[in-house]
Amino acid sequence: MTERTLAIIKPDAVKKNAIGDIIKQYEAAGLRPVAIRMMQLSKAVAEGFYAVHRSRPFFDSLTTFMSSGPVVVLALVGEDAIKRHRELMGATDPAKAAPGTIRAAHGANIEFNAVHGSDAPETARFEIGYFFPEMDLAVR
Ligand code: RTP
Ligand code: MG
Repeated sequence: MTERTLAIIKPDAVKKNAIGDIIKQYEAAGLRPVAIRMMQLSKAVAEGFYAVHRSRPFFDSLTTFMSSGPVVVLALVGEDAIKRHRELMGATDPAKAAPGTIRAAHGANIEFNAVHGSDAPETARFEIGYFFPEMDLAVR
């Protein structure tokens, strides 16, 4: 099934000049960018994006990190894009991420882990709409 997912190249990966490498890996995996936006999130925008994690102990630290520098936000389209993207990213903790995954290559630890990816169709819909409100999600 062709679907869309949201990716974020996080501030740590942007600082490491890994934007090009990461986008190259999306394309090589059949995840085609259909929207790209470079921006710096305010703390409030980061909090709105990660609202599902509001009660988690790492919420303040996570949203401080996500608003600490520029990020690259992408909508990616492809066959089983959500699952395929999560596999390409690797486990949340880079130390546990399989070799060859983006987090194994570019993540430092469970918090500074280089990339974000939607984890389900409903979250992908919310997250794409959060950053690309003009996109018509019905059109592939
Ligand atoms: P993401 O949402 O960013 O794609 O990451 P994920 O699904 O693999 O992990 P999730 O559980 O949704 O956590 C969101 C982000 O919060 C930070 N985190 N820190 N200190 C900690 O124990 C901890 N746990 C998670 C990470 O940046 C994680 O990607
Ligand atoms: Mg998540």
